[in-house]
Amino acid sequence: MANINTKFHPKKMDSGFCCNNIVLIGFMGSGKSSVGAQLARSLSRVLLDCDTLIEQTESMRIAEIFAKVGEAGFRQKERVLAEWLAHNVRNAVIATGGGLPIFYQEIRNLGVVVYLKADFETIHARLSDEERAKRPLFADMQKAHALYKERAQSYAACAHYTIDAKGSAHDIASAIITLL
Ligand code: S3P
Repeated sequence: MANINTKFHPKKMDSGFCCNNIVLIGFMGSGKSSVGAQLARSLSRVLLDCDTLIEQTESMRIAEIFAKVGEAGFRQKERVLAEWLAHNVRNAVIATGGGLPIFYQEIRNLGVVVYLKADFETIHARLSDEERAKRPLFADMQKAHALYKERAQSYAACAHYTIDAKGSAHDIASAIITLL
């Protein structure tokens, strides 16, 4: 199931330190939040969900932030959060927003990066209309599919590990625990 990138060594993170966070990346709907919650429970760690933290800080939903300050404004808030996490958080599970590793290329500063890889059809089937409506970049299915294709390589390139994210959150979390 898992595809291990053998270049990874936990003592030699890009930043020169190892903060021991598990950082989940992947496209919208790949299961980062649900797998993150399962992982946190199984490992007795805290889950930090980047979108939730931004929403709480701003007292606005993600769609409202996009409407108010545009995507560029949202990316700026994401970067500030990512830098704060890199400097202040240890031993947590971090569920990122789908664009974070694309716009914050120092993602490995946050910890061990695990890419939850799912095909677009799986992702689309997983997201209800209500869930899609929360995500401005999923408003148009064809544009979302193009974005998925555009990002796929970048996710794989910045991850220490890539894992098949087609199963249940429980099974994916167990596979990650076996990997690390
Ligand atoms: C985004 C993904 C969303 C959220 C925002 C932008 C993206 O998070 O951060 O709508 O650019 O892929 P999820 O991946 O949790 O849906």
